[in-house]
This record gives sequence, structure tokens and C-alpha cells, in this order.
Amino acid sequence: MNAQELIATAGAMVAEDKGLLAMDESTPTCNKRFEKVGIPQTEETRRSYRELIVTTPGLGESISGVILYDETIRQSRKDGTPFVKVITDAGIIPGIKVDTGAKDMAGHPGEKITEGLDGLRDRLAEYSQMGARFAKWRAVITIAEGIPSRGCTEANAHALARYAALCQEVGLVPVVEPEVLMDGEHTLERCREVTEELLRTVFNHLYTQRVTLEGMILKPNMVLPGLTCPKQETVDEVADATVRCLLRAVPAAVPGIAFLSGGQSGELASARLNAMNVRFKSRLPWALAFSFARAIQQPALEIWQGRESHVLAAQRALYHRARCNRAARRGEYNAAMERT
Ligand code: 13P
Repeated sequence: MNAQELIATAGAMVAEDKGLLAMDESTPTCNKRFEKVGIPQTEETRRSYRELIVTTPGLGESISGVILYDETIRQSRKDGTPFVKVITDAGIIPGIKVDTGAKDMAGHPGEKITEGLDGLRDRLAEYSQMGARFAKWRAVITIAEGIPSRGCTEANAHALARYAALCQEVGLVPVVEPEVLMDGEHTLERCREVTEELLRTVFNHLYTQRVTLEGMILKPNMVLPGLTCPKQETVDEVADATVRCLLRAVPAAVPGIAFLSGGQSGELASARLNAMNVRFKSRLPWALAFSFARAIQQPALEIWQGRESHVLAAQRALYHRARCNRAARRGEYNAAMERT
């Protein structure tokens, strides 16, 4: 492991107020999103959609890295140029999702454990050879009556730390993603409590597994009230609760925190990230960035509808959301940007 290289890559992933674009939906998830908007679910439509994304003009102005999926990292543009080359030529760092999904956890009804550690060392070596420079692993935590349990929190944190150590061994920056889901009626305070406990546990395991914190990126949820909670806090209240929670649980050695969007609308995700940077940026030890999938892609997907004639309009929508989020990193996002 070359620590300096890892640190340089992690720094580049959050440099210049840019952020990550997650385009690593597994085949079943991508198909589900296609089905919702009436796009046929084939390998060719998935490839065309990913081509649309990676060939968006000017994407690299706001996006430092993209997260690919196993199918996608092996695909090419229609003219035969591998996606990894298209991405790298655009000045964007290619990354890869390496977990194999969140599965029902034995003995823990309603809870999930993320799988993918078996054979991971060999898969990471292959991805690294293919040009990936960072990786992602997502753990999923549900809030409901009596959960999350200690068993689920510990098992997921342990897997995240084992994955992160293996990534660093081969020179890939681990994006460590412990996600507390928004689904449910829980309050913002309950989300804060669960998120803080989860992050503390994750960092304990990262320490035990000897992960270099300077060479990783944390990808957490924002601290939010459950989707069906009657009380929905303001943008500023969410920003305050999220930053307060992170300050308590995330060591200052971590270079960047890149939020997932988790099903928030594009506008809300940008507004909340913006508020955090407006209110706290100059006082924080880490960069507050983004690693959104839906909050960047959704409008583009809806415009595209699988039609060649809609590609340019879809790319404009993708470029716009990426640009809004770069503005949010600078604390310069506002609703007027949505009308331009
Ligand atoms: P969302 O931004 O849609 O939550 O996706 C981020 C991600 O990469 C989930 O693993």
C-alpha cells in the first residue's frame, strides 16, 4: 500500500468543490428505475444510459469521480471506447461498487447485512487493473420499533472495516457508506441518535482494522426526520443536526464526507448541503461534499425515456444538477439556479 497515493486520491475526490456521481445501480436496481419510467430493461439500454451519463459535456466541471457497477466498468461507448477511458479522458476518477448487496440478516428480523467479503481481494485487484482508483461498499440500517439492533450495527461496521482495509491494501480509496434509511415515521432526533451510534461503531472498527483515515471518504446519510414523520424540520435545522452529529463522531483525519441523497429530491439535497456549507464550512475539519445517485440522475432519466432524440436534453439536466451541487459545496446554491 502506498499511503501517499491513497491520500492524494482521496483529496482529489473532494477537491475544487466537486463531488461524486454514483452511477453504480446494480442491474436489478437499474431495471427497477427504468421500469418506473417505461424504459425497456436490457443490457443495451443500461449501456446507452451509462454512455449518456459519461459523455455529458462539461461533467468534469462539477464531478470529480463516478462510481461504476461491475457490468458498467466492462462496457464501452458505442464507438468501442471503454467507459473507463472516456471517464479518465474527461478528467474524472473512476470508482467501483464492490459489495454484493444487503441481504436479510439471520436472527435479526427486519434488518440487513451487506455481503461481498469472500473473494474481495481478487476482485479488487482486477478492478484496480481495469483503472478503478476507489471503491464503494454500502451498509443499510433501518429504523423501526426495536431496531437497529447492536448485532446488526456491529456486523455491518465490521464488514465495512474489513472491506476498507482490503481496498487500501491494493491502493483503492474506500468510500465507506453506512446508510440510515429515511423510510419510517421516526423523528429527526431518533435519526441523529442512530446515525451517531452507527458512525462511532464504524470508526471503532476502522481503527481496529488499521484503516488509514486520511485515505478514505465517508459517505453517510444526512440527519433527517423519517419520510412519514409528521414533523419535518427546516433546511437549516437539518443542516445543524447533521453537522453536530458528524462533529461528534467523525475524526478530523478523514479528508471528506460525501453524502448520499437517499431518496430526497434533487433540490432539497442541494439546499441542505448548501446550508451546511453556508453555516459551517470555514469551521469544519473535513470537506462536506456529495456522492448522489438519484439527486443528480433522476431528472435526466425521466427526460431520456430511452430515446436517442432526448439524449442532449437529458445531458443538460444531468449537467445542471451536478452544477447545483458544486454550488452547494461553495454555499452558493439558491432556488434561482433552478430557473436558469
Ligand atoms: P442515492 O444518492 O440515490 O441515495 O444513492 C447513493 C448511493 O450510492 C447509494 O449506495
